[in-house]
Amino acid sequence: MKTEIFPLDIATGPAFCNRVQERALLKNNIELNTHTILYAPRRFGKTSLVFKVCDELGRSKDKITCINLDLMWVSSMEDVLQLLLKEASKALSIMLPKYEQALLLLKEMAKNIEASVKLSASGAGVGSSVELDLKARKVAPDTIIEVLDTLDAVAQRNEHKLVFFLDEFQQIAELPGKHSIEAAFRAAAQKATHLTYFFSGSNRHMLSLMFEDKARPLYHMCDHVSVERISKQDYLEHIDNAAKMTWKKPLGADVIHVILNLTARHPYYVNALCRKLFLLATLPTEESVRDTWHHYASREEKRFMSEFGRLSTVQKKLLQALCLYPTDKPASGGFLRKAGINSGSLNKSLERLYTLDMIYKKADGVIEPIDPVILYGIKLAHQ
Ligand SMILES: Nc1ncnc2c1ncn2[C@@H]1O[C@H](COP(=O)(O)OP(=O)(O)O)[C@@H](O)[C@H]1O
Ligand SMILES: [Mg+2]
Repeated sequence: MKTEIFPLDIATGPAFCNRVQERALLKNNIELNTHTILYAPRRFGKTSLVFKVCDELGRSKDKITCINLDLMWVSSMEDVLQLLLKEASKALSIMLPKYEQALLLLKEMAKNIEASVKLSASGAGVGSSVELDLKARKVAPDTIIEVLDTLDAVAQRNEHKLVFFLDEFQQIAELPGKHSIEAAFRAAAQKATHLTYFFSGSNRHMLSLMFEDKARPLYHMCDHVSVERISKQDYLEHIDNAAKMTWKKPLGADVIHVILNLTARHPYYVNALCRKLFLLATLPTEESVRDTWHHYASREEKRFMSEFGRLSTVQKKLLQALCLYPTDKPASGGFLRKAGINSGSLNKSLERLYTLDMIYKKADGVIEPIDPVILYGIKLAHQ
């Protein structure tokens, strides 16, 4: 099967560009069992990065499994447990392929988990296969701890490493009983020796409230890793290599710079634009890049308008000003004047835009909009 070089979902193989430093950091944290928070806006490449790291470690070491829990849609502790048990059963089946062993061991280790085997239709639609089926006897934080402790203990017995990737973890903060769920994760993570936790989320603001507030159970638990945009230099090489494969010629720095400027090096949009450009029969020019982006961004405009329409007038003015005059000093008189808002309403509006995941503070302190389609739409409207 042909691997896509510019996928809209997880980037693997030749589609994966750079992240050398982040990969080294995460590998080290897995090896040392250091739990980690991964901060990045949506579609910046968290999942691709974690999968890549686990894949690489799996190739160099023998036994490592990534358990991926996407918490985006959970709305109760019961949902969390159900997801957890489903993924735990997959991981246990990898570590303990013989079901009799798994059942015996679970009986011995876990009193709140009911384990059985069930027949399930196989993926291909022919025949059926046996699957480990786990159910919670009690929906309580204790059961969460028990599942996590069991995974760690089985991993330890089998000299297996587990990476527990908890995606959109900030959703936990929206649940009733959030403190007891957070406390359950803390209790299990503190004891773990073979299970490394990667807490990840797109809402930096909410995640930081969970991990940086002394009053919250997960305070000071983790190493922090920020997934930033991929550098210009790395993208230049990556995109030029793809061009050489497609047209037998490099695209050249000038054209690639236009791609990177329009997409603001947002990994999802770089791929969204490049996959269109790379369908062209001839080598794209600066002009064809601009045209293709304009066409794409115009189609996306509806989504932009509906997001923008939900903002208050002050929030709209602030977002517009951050697009037109990116700054690390939004409270300065000069910026407020250009934005046309008063200092009294600044903080609340900033907070709202952070909560909505619309703006983002870069490592150098400059605040900018996350979505290049919004940026483009606003700039176009002010030309
Ligand atoms: N290292 C990378 N190199 C190239 N493209 C990437 C990389 N990481 C992510 N992408 C692309 O960015 C988009 C979002 O990736 P994903 O891993 O799903 O992000 P997240 O988990 O942060 O939402 C996808 O189109 C993916 O192919
Ligand atoms: Mg993801």
